[in-house]
Amino acid sequence: MEPRKASIHDDTPQRIIADAIQRYGEEELAISFSGAEDVVLVDMAHKLGLRPGVFALDTGRLHPETYRFFETVRDHYDTPIELLMPQPEAVASLVREKGMFSFLNDGHSECCAVRKIEPLRRKLSTLDAWITGQRQDQSVTRNDVPHKQVDRAFSSAEHTLMKFNPLSEWSSGDVWAYIRANGVPYNALHDQGFVSIGCEPCTRPVGPHEHERAGRWWWEEATQKECGLHAQNVVKIIG
Ligand code: ADX
Ligand code: SF4
Repeated sequence: MEPRKASIHDDTPQRIIADAIQRYGEEELAISFSGAEDVVLVDMAHKLGLRPGVFALDTGRLHPETYRFFETVRDHYDTPIELLMPQPEAVASLVREKGMFSFLNDGHSECCAVRKIEPLRRKLSTLDAWITGQRQDQSVTRNDVPHKQVDRAFSSAEHTLMKFNPLSEWSSGDVWAYIRANGVPYNALHDQGFVSIGCEPCTRPVGPHEHERAGRWWWEEATQKECGLHAQNVVKIIG
């Protein structure tokens, strides 16, 4: 297979990124970067000469490798990465009442709501559009994620938020071909069998014949493996 190179033809992720930034501007739009292979979004924007904001949800439970990778990306692209932290009181209250691993007993949604969704909602309320690395091949909940959508989960009556998913039609193989062909730095966890990477207690490496998201919240059903960042995917399946 011919490796993916940086290019800007119609409907390529680069075109989608360029159009989104042209429409919303570098200040009103940001890339949400998980610290995994969605680093290609940062690389593509950088190669296009564009400098949108980049933010990451620092749940306080990420792997040390992921924190190091944020620094690698910051240095490599000479770009700030805004780390969004949860409300300390909300974390303290959850941990005081239920301990550090409540998600193993009663599901991940409560902890994700505190550590990811509240900080994300705060950030998105300041933006008109965000760019994510969601792909259709990641999950049954993402089968028809489009390039562009209104984010119904985070829009309000007064504020319409757009969501761009430039990699939606790329496979994992496409992403890795791009990373190799373009010398993109990547999270050291990928060389230890991790494919999809989230918080440390909720992520494990996958075997050769396992789906990449089998390593995320492995104690839960595939249809439950959305933490609320992309809640509209789940609403669509259930509703
Ligand atoms: S998750 O909802 O299951 O955690 P996943 O890890 O597949 O999401 O990543 C899909 C996209 O969601 C990423 O490409 C990124 O845009 C966004 N995302 C996920 N986790 C984070 C994070 N910690 N910080 C910022 N964005 C994130
Ligand atoms: Fe909490 Fe796990 Fe969700 Fe991270 S992924 S916020 S540790 S439940």
